[in-house]
Order: sequence, then structure tokens, then C-alpha cells
Amino acid sequence: MKFFIDTANLDEIRSAAELGVLDGVTTNPSLIAKIVGDPLNFTYNDFKAHIRRICEIVDGPVSAEVTCLKAEEMIAEGEDLASIHENVVVKCPLTIDGLKAIRHFSACGIKTNATLVFSPNQALLAAKAGADYVSPFVGRLDDISTDGMELVEQIVTMYDNYGYPTEVIVASVRHPQHVVSAAMMGADIATIPYGVIRQLANHPLTDAGLKKFMEDAAVMKK
Ligand code: G3P
Repeated sequence: MKFFIDTANLDEIRSAAELGVLDGVTTNPSLIAKIVGDPLNFTYNDFKAHIRRICEIVDGPVSAEVTCLKAEEMIAEGEDLASIHENVVVKCPLTIDGLKAIRHFSACGIKTNATLVFSPNQALLAAKAGADYVSPFVGRLDDISTDGMELVEQIVTMYDNYGYPTEVIVASVRHPQHVVSAAMMGADIATIPYGVIRQLANHPLTDAGLKKFMEDAAVMKK
């Protein structure tokens, strides 16, 4: 199973990379907006420079999302984003126009991540259009009292049934249990916020055990 970090924050990316568990990065316009200091002075070139810096930190897929709605515009922007670095994956929304763009990118060897996926049929369409990755948003489904992880289970089963190579990225992860469920279901990847990556290491019995070991170790003369 691969772990991506779901952030555009360079400090968080560096810290997760230092743990040695990081296989890639996903961003989206909302995550980019969080790292922008002064929106009046943040240009498209600044955005591209930021994606380049992420690619220099992590040697793995880095999703950068298109910021337009029409297929032709997504294609132009996606080709430009793909030219930033060989590890850039162009993230396209799962819309009719997004599917057209994914098909185009697939034909010309540009990697894609179909995002904002909330149903099994959207995931099937992503695979058929040739997306390299599909991103079901589990937390946002949970938010509306729908089982987000059930969608992941359906997608993993459907892709296995037909041998689709599209990799499943469990996205909109909110807590450690999402990661456990993703692994149990055989999802290829979880893209995880930095805070949740840190939570994965926590256990109160580890803390209590360590405290006792440190106390007992203190009886040894150095
Ligand atoms: O990877 C998708 C993710 O960024 C969305 O997460 O928490 O905004 O639903 P959230």
C-alpha cells in the first residue's frame, strides 16, 4: 500500500518525507489556497513553481489539479502542468469534460488522477477513459451520512473484476480508521493529511510502555 500526503504545505511534506513512509503527494485548489500568503500576489507561475518545489522534495507522483471546466481548457492547462516535472499527475474532475481531458492525456502519455469521485459509476468511467488514478472522497461521503469506505470497496471489486490498471487513491481521509479500512480493502493508496499520518503512530499503550521502560532504564549506571 502506498501513502501519499494530502497537502500543499512544504513543511508538512518535508516532515512526512523524513519519516520514510511517503510515496507521493496530492494537492487541490483548496489546499493550494491554504498556503498562499497574499492572494493578490500569487500567480499561476507561482503555483507552478510551488508544484516544482514539491516534486523536488518527493520522488513520486505529485497531483496538480486543473482549474478550469471545459475539456479544451483542461487539456491546455494539464499539458502545461505536466511539463513542470515528469512526476506531475494531472488531476481532473470527474465530469463529462474531465473525462474527455483524461482520455486525451491517456492517449499522449500524461498521467491523470480523476478526482471528486463519489459513485461507483464515476469510478468505472474514470477507468474506461484511461485514468491512472481515481480518487473517491470518503470523508465527504461520511459527512452526508453515506459510507465512504463502502464506495472504496465497490471500486476495488469492480477494478479487480475487469483488471483495470487504474489505482485507487482513498481521498478525503479524516482519521486513522479510514487508513485501516483502505488497507483491509486492498486500496492501492491512501492520501492522508499530515495530522492523520502522525496519528497513525500513536497508541496510549506505546506511551505508557515507553514511560515505564525509561523509568526502569534509569536504574542503570551510565
Ligand atoms: O484529496 C482530497 C481531499 O483534499 C479532500 O479532503 O477533507 O477537503 O474532504 P477534504
